[in-house]
Amino acid sequence: MTIKKKPKVFSGIQPSHALHLGNYLGALKPWVESQNETDNVFCVVDLHSPTLLGDIDPKILAENSRSVAALYFAAGIDPEENIVFIQSHVPEHTEATWILSCATPLGWLNRMTQFKSKSQLVESVGTGLLTYPVLMAADILLYDTNRVPVGDDQRQHVELTRDIAMRFNNLFGDVFTIPEAVIPKLGARVMSFDEPETKMSKSIARSKAGHAVNLLDSEKQMKKTIMSAVTDSERETRFEHASKGVYNLLSLYQTLSGESKESIEAKFDGQGYGFLKKELLGIVIESLAPVQKRYAEIMDDRAELERILANGAQKAKERASVTLQRMKNATGVG
Ligand code: AMP
Ligand code: TRP
Repeated sequence: MTIKKKPKVFSGIQPSHALHLGNYLGALKPWVESQNETDNVFCVVDLHSPTLLGDIDPKILAENSRSVAALYFAAGIDPEENIVFIQSHVPEHTEATWILSCATPLGWLNRMTQFKSKSQLVESVGTGLLTYPVLMAADILLYDTNRVPVGDDQRQHVELTRDIAMRFNNLFGDVFTIPEAVIPKLGARVMSFDEPETKMSKSIARSKAGHAVNLLDSEKQMKKTIMSAVTDSERETRFEHASKGVYNLLSLYQTLSGESKESIEAKFDGQGYGFLKKELLGIVIESLAPVQKRYAEIMDDRAELERILANGAQKAKERASVTLQRMKNATGVG
C-alpha cells in the first residue's frame, strides 16, 4: 500500500499590533478548518514587523509574537499536529533570503502594490520594505510548500514567490517546489467598519477606533465598533444592491454564520440596518468568546507556551536547514 503524502502548507501572520477579524477570517479560520488534510507549518513572522520603521514599539514586539502564537492555538491550531514557531528563532530564513535576493530582479519588487502603498506611509523607506517579499518567499520555499493559505492581499506576494522559485530553478537546477496561494472563497478581503472602501488593517486599527474588531476586544468595544459601522440612508440588504458598508456587514455575517445568501437576504429584508448590526454583533461575540477564553488559559501557562514554541522552532529548523543546504550546494556557497 502506498501512503499518499499530505500537501505541505506554510503560512504566517505578522505580530505587529492586535489581530483583527480580517486576519481571523482570511487566514486563521481557514488554517484551522483544513489543518487535518495537510502537513502544516504556521509561523509568527516577527522579522516582517520592523519593515515599517516606527510602526511597532520594539519593547512590545517579542511579547506580541507570543500573543499571536497563543492566538493560533486559541483559534484551534493543534500544537501536537502542526509546527508553530517564531520566524526569528530559525535563522535559516534570513540566510535563505540573502541567496534568494541575489536571484530576484529589482523590477519585480518595485512592482509590488503593497510596497507602493506602504512606502507612502513613511518618511524614510527602509530597504527591508522593498525586499520584504523575498523574506516571505524564503519562508515559503524553505519548507517545500505546496499551498499557502492567505487573504487576498497576499496573492501578489505568493505569485512573486512562484516567479522567484522558477527563476532560481532555471538558474541553479531543481531546488524548489513551486507553491500556490489558497485564498478562501469567503472572508478573503474584510473591509473596515469605518471606511468600507479600505481593507481592515492592523496599522490603521491601532490608531483609529471604529476601524476593526480585534480578536481580543471586549464585548463593549465590539459593540461600539459594529453599531457605529458606516452604512447608508437606505434599507437595502440584498448583496447585489447593497452599498459597500452594508455589503461588508452582510458578507461578515455570511462568513461567520455559514448561512446562504438567500436565507440571509430573507432574514434581513426590510428590517433596517440596526437589526443587521445587532445580529452580526451577536455572531461575532459568539465566535470569538471561546477563542478569548482559550487564549487567556494559554497565556496563563507561559512555560508551556515557550516549550511548544521552542519545540516548533527545532522541528522547523530541521526542515529549513535541509533546503538551505540544497540552495548552498546549488549556488556553490559554503
Ligand atoms: P497581516 O496582518 O498582514 O500579517 O496578514 C496576515 C494574514 O491575514 C494574511 O494571510 C492576510 O492576507 C490576512 N489578512 C490581513 N488583512 C485582511 C483582511 N482585511 N481581510 C482578509 N484577510 C486579511
Ligand atoms: N506578508 C504576509 C502578510 O503581511 C505575512 C507573511 C510572511 C506570510 N511570510 C509569509 C504569509 C509566508 C504566508 C506565507 O500578511
